Amino acid sequence: MFERIDYYAGDPILGLVDKFVADSNPNKVNLGIGIYYDKVGNMPVLDCVKTAEQRIADPISPRPYLPMAGLPGHRKGCQNLLFGKDTQVLKDGRVATIATLGGSGALKVGAEFIHEWFPQSKCYVSDPTWSNHIAIFEGCDIEVGEYPYYDKATNSIRFDDMISFIEKLNKNDVVLLHPCCHNPTGMDLTQEQWDKVLDVIKQRELIPFMDIAYQGFGDNMDSDAYAIRKAVDMGLSLFVSNSFSKNLSLYGERVGGLSVVCPTADEAERVFGQLNFMVRRIYTSPPSHGGRVVDIVMNDEQLHQQWVGEVYGMRDRIKAMRMKLKSVLESNLPDHNFDYITHQNGMFSFTGLTPEQVERLQSEFGVYMVSNSRMCVAGLNVNNVDYVANAMVEVLKV
Ligand code: LMR
Repeated sequence: MFERIDYYAGDPILGLVDKFVADSNPNKVNLGIGIYYDKVGNMPVLDCVKTAEQRIADPISPRPYLPMAGLPGHRKGCQNLLFGKDTQVLKDGRVATIATLGGSGALKVGAEFIHEWFPQSKCYVSDPTWSNHIAIFEGCDIEVGEYPYYDKATNSIRFDDMISFIEKLNKNDVVLLHPCCHNPTGMDLTQEQWDKVLDVIKQRELIPFMDIAYQGFGDNMDSDAYAIRKAVDMGLSLFVSNSFSKNLSLYGERVGGLSVVCPTADEAERVFGQLNFMVRRIYTSPPSHGGRVVDIVMNDEQLHQQWVGEVYGMRDRIKAMRMKLKSVLESNLPDHNFDYITHQNGMFSFTGLTPEQVERLQSEFGVYMVSNSRMCVAGLNVNNVDYVANAMVEVLKV
């Protein structure tokens, strides 16, 4: 019966975790998956999360189903964070938001919605992008194409090529964008470049789908959402998927959100209804624990402030690691240019190593990064950064 079923080759990112765990090298370093580890290599439990969990009064209380859209406080938390607290678009009731199973869940529900209501639309993702973007949209029978984004030779953004490509797309085509901390390259557009991209999107009547999984890790909570808020100011309709996996360090709780900004409150209500229907037929409703934590941290002013400080602490540690890595590499390989390491934002650095060099790092040094050369800088710490830099020197030198 199942002989015709294909083998699954495994996920290029998640598959690395199993390989890493099985590696017996005592010096191994995991720079594959996008997870933040603290200065001693542990995954942190944020203090604001600890307090929220203590406040979840009785852990053995009844567990009713949540609404299909999740907890109202979780939804409100997503909205305030993305669009700015109590901004006009929210007061006008023009944003339909549901709580989702992480960022992936938001992308899936959004892609299902697009497939159902915009069946002619194709989706265009940056070249390169997070591999699951392509998998999720193709998995909803949406044709996926790539717009030019990153130039490996110069470690810069192919902005003119990106614009001329987007200028040729058809009405209602979806353009998937990373508002901050581009995954995998770490190279973000400037605000002027965002303005230009959004102008073209408006002119061509395209659908922007902004996927923001690292808010707070780039510059700050507000400026990381610049593209989203600018699109709203320009009167665009858009999709926004957001994740709390990284900025609340709640990876396994699967907490995120999907927001759709609509021209009117009436349209937002229809869209909200359809999103509920999508959720019902995929998984009925989200689980409650993570949603309760999000609700508490996002809506308690003091905890929210504490949270922002904790995210900035993670952001700053990553920036310090970028500087340290760059300086060790530069002193060992003065002929190479490593400026890209500190120009990039967020958790990732696109190192430009060849697949063979990435493979050597893994087999000879137990240093794991994704085969496209993406390194999770958040896995570096004072104890392993020299080891990693020296391993990179070994594979880079001729
Ligand atoms: C990553 O890019 O490593 C993370 O977003 C984890 C994942 O699901 O791939």
